[in-house]
Amino acid sequence: MSNIAKHVAIIMDGNGRWAQERGQKRVKGHEMGAEVVRNITTYCSDHKEIRRLTLYAFSTENWKRPRLEVEFLMQLLERYLKNELSEYLKNDVRFEPIGDLSRFSNSLQKTIHNIEEKTAHCDGLVQRLALNYGSQDEIVRAVNTLIDAGKSVTEESISEALDCTCEVDLLIRTGGDHRLSNFLLWQAAYAELFFTDTLWPDFTPEELEKIITSFMTVERRFGGLK
Ligand code: FPP
Repeated sequence: MSNIAKHVAIIMDGNGRWAQERGQKRVKGHEMGAEVVRNITTYCSDHKEIRRLTLYAFSTENWKRPRLEVEFLMQLLERYLKNELSEYLKNDVRFEPIGDLSRFSNSLQKTIHNIEEKTAHCDGLVQRLALNYGSQDEIVRAVNTLIDAGKSVTEESISEALDCTCEVDLLIRTGGDHRLSNFLLWQAAYAELFFTDTLWPDFTPEELEKIITSFMTVERRFGGLK
């Protein structure tokens, strides 16, 4: 029987290098990256088996980048979300943010919540953007929520208290590095990991389809025996 990639998660790396290779500023790579987010989301929303797509858009560590790059990413995100609303509604895509949003500007927080509310009824693909997200931060926040509520700390209660409550089937990283960079560490416990040298702005639905086809034939044992 073949595997089903119900939840696909992607570390979108390589925007800066893509731009630099073309003698352009790093932010141009982010701009192209946003186009690819759109194409890959459309592909996933058309795919009959993918139910969730979680994309690492801004990590808790990304604040360390130059101020202008951070500002550009914030503006790009706000622009992307505002432009995307009609596309989300057309494709029945539900937008959900994960991460600690409290560090973003009021305006960006408002946009994020507005798009989340306006797409809450959508029943197709869930597109989750990880924003000011770090897996360790997410786990700490979840455990503190349990402690504050006087609940016992178990694998099940932690899973339920996380921002992202469902396990990942397929985790892809573009850009050539082989690491998880604090992304969905808990949820990816049994995920299949795929690494590609393709830089994110060059990543295509065709390459994703090839990865999914390869994922379908992997033997997943979840620690047991087949
Ligand atoms: C990593 O590339 C990418 C990011 C830190 C941000 C991801 C952002 C996007 C894909 C575009 C905006 C997204 C949305 C949803 C509008 P990098 O800059 O680390 O690349 P490098 O490794 O080549 O330097």
